[in-house]
Amino acid sequence: MCPRRSSAGHASAAEPLIRKIDKRTARLGVIGLGYVGLPLAVEFAEAGFHVTGIDIDERRVRELNRGHSYIQDVPTAQLRKLVRSGHLTATTDFAVLRRMDSVNICVPTPLSKQRDPDVSYIVAASKEVARYFHRGMLVILESTTYPGTTDELILPLLAETGLEVGKDFFLAFSPERVDPGNATYTTINIPKVVGGVTPACTEVARNLYSQVMNKVVPVSSVRVAETVKLLENTFRSVNIAMVNELALMCAAMDIDVWEVIAGASTKPFGFMPFYPGPGLGGHCIPIDPFYLSWKAKQFGSEARFIELAGQINGAMPKHVVNLTARALNGRKKAVNGSRVLVVGVAYKPAIDDIRESPALDVIELLVKSGAEVSWYDPHVPSLPAGIHGERLDQWTKASLAGFDAAVIVTPHPSVDHKVLLGAGPVVIDSRNALKGERHPDLTRL
Ligand SMILES: NC(=O)c1ccc[n+]([C@@H]2O[C@H](COP(=O)([O-])OP(=O)(O)OC[C@H]3O[C@@H](n4cnc5c(N)ncnc54)[C@H](O)[C@@H]3O)[C@@H](O)[C@H]2O)c1
Repeated sequence: MCPRRSSAGHASAAEPLIRKIDKRTARLGVIGLGYVGLPLAVEFAEAGFHVTGIDIDERRVRELNRGHSYIQDVPTAQLRKLVRSGHLTATTDFAVLRRMDSVNICVPTPLSKQRDPDVSYIVAASKEVARYFHRGMLVILESTTYPGTTDELILPLLAETGLEVGKDFFLAFSPERVDPGNATYTTINIPKVVGGVTPACTEVARNLYSQVMNKVVPVSSVRVAETVKLLENTFRSVNIAMVNELALMCAAMDIDVWEVIAGASTKPFGFMPFYPGPGLGGHCIPIDPFYLSWKAKQFGSEARFIELAGQINGAMPKHVVNLTARALNGRKKAVNGSRVLVVGVAYKPAIDDIRESPALDVIELLVKSGAEVSWYDPHVPSLPAGIHGERLDQWTKASLAGFDAAVIVTPHPSVDHKVLLGAGPVVIDSRNALKGERHPDLTRL
């Protein structure tokens, strides 16, 4: 609940802010307009708020102000409507924060070269918030990060202004759980966990989210909220690693791992299927668990599951390349000099995001072994600089015939993978895209 009077004697800023939020006259800012920030800004704007997105990427700001979406899950028509009605606008100028009542920080949280958390984006964004900070402001961090970030890094920057948290301003953490490409669960119907630095902070943040989200789940602290997200992604990473290891064991024993998983999945309780694959991808699952292990280490706590899962999942691209070498060997061919097609380079099906995609590792390993690599992905126009490989535009039996091997890394539902069988190349299916098929050309993970 919101305290009515602060220790300094003046009225808490919570009630006026909550009133503004309820009336939807609060001005909302979203810092970082990517996969997380843009959909969030759109939902706030759809609810009738005036939302200002702030990003250091001038191109994204320009695109948004033109009403053009650069994020697959946000339709351009929806964005254009909100921009035209004046509910959504974007800028690179942080000075607009002077007029904001609330700001959500949705900036990247990658790993450094040493695989330590890189919170420099959070710090940079928070410093800008502190620069234009004022009484009555709500600040919510949504970037995935280690427990302690909100109250150890952001709170001191904001408290330097002399304002008091929970009375003069409000600070909370709320993990973003958006799943790009998921048509069933989107920003508004994924329950929103929120934890404030004080109970008043939790209450003000809960109030804001409940204007747009179907369900808001308050927790007792920012650290709990920060750790919730890390548990979710560590859970996936560890289970995927376990099933990847199972796939290797099953291969050694000549047992079909896919059939094993299908059989186990018939158990109506106590089992949840995870599937083996070519390795982890995306901005979250390969990265976030290391935020947790890094912080736990400072407390003398060893995250053995996380480290082991990282090793097993990280070795999968190499395993896929080994399978390719073996399949080519069966045709008396070497990887060196073979024409190899990598099918699907996005990190997961039906999306265009290639960040941390295992396909990039598979391509690099194949190139290093002397293969002539091409790739096919209807969702992805180009590969990042430094990754070699020619884009294949046509998906026909004729265009596939010239390849010695085809490696299915990401099975987009729009691609008919059966065309590969009998087209010419040996086919290495790392995702069971050709479920149920039996063919002499086919090697399954
Ligand atoms: N992508 C996902 O599926 C997903 C899901 C859940 C949580 N997350 C987490 O959300 C956070 C954001 O991820 P994302 O995928 O949206 O990243 P993104 O790279 O798509 O977007 C981040 C945006 O922040 C901008 N930016 C960087 N530094 C900035 C600064 N100092 N000030 C203003 N803007 C700045 C970038 O230009 C970019 O537009 C990360 O912590 C990520 O782990 C991502």
